[in-house]
Amino acid sequence: MAPIRLALLLGSNRTPRFCDTVAAWVLDEVARHGGYQMDVLDPRTLGLPASLPPEPDPPTLRLRRRLAAADAFLVVAPEYNHGYPAPLKQTLDAAHAEWQAKPAAFVGYGGHSGGLRAIEQLRQVFCALHAVPVHDSLLLPGAAARFDASGRPPDAQACGRAMQAMLAQLHWWAVALRRARAERPYRANAA
Ligand SMILES: Cc1cc2nc3c(=O)[nH]c(=O)nc-3n(C[C@H](O)[C@H](O)[C@H](O)COP(=O)(O)O)c2cc1C
Repeated sequence: MAPIRLALLLGSNRTPRFCDTVAAWVLDEVARHGGYQMDVLDPRTLGLPASLPPEPDPPTLRLRRRLAAADAFLVVAPEYNHGYPAPLKQTLDAAHAEWQAKPAAFVGYGGHSGGLRAIEQLRQVFCALHAVPVHDSLLLPGAAARFDASGRPPDAQACGRAMQAMLAQLHWWAVALRRARAERPYRANAA
């Protein structure tokens, strides 16, 4: 079976940002799963315009092509003021059909909440995009203070197990929906 093409969306564009530490661990876990081919989408380098143009500009078209090639999405996002960061919403709003009938999984991190509220909001937004959030998500409270010097989360074994369970769910949905899209194109506005 062809590997599932996974687009990893980074939620933070700050400099410096803890997102890089979390994403590096997540990428190791994705490699350990073995069933995915990765494309990392970083809001710092996407070059999206500050406001949505009436016609898509070249960076938006490039992003759309990369999203269209993806079979599944994995978001790594911090919580900012009980929500998720604005650059991530800009990325989500820059495409339409490219999200549809594809599964999405979420890794949240932050202060006391571990990103819970950000991830719950993202679940609503991905439903609005006609994407399919998987059941599990991974939350990492107090992340910046609790990852160790080698970039491992606290209780790395339990976090690794939770991550692999979520990646397995995401993979199942990605295979099922890839087949379904090939068999019968998804029509968001079908009566
Ligand atoms: C503007 C701002 C708002 C924040 N609001 C929250 C919050 O509501 N809940 C929370 O748990 N952490 C909150 N935090 C903490 C961040 O989630 C935490 O510092 C995280 O590691 C930031 O990720 P980044 O460095 O990759 O951007 C906030 C941080 C910032 C900068």
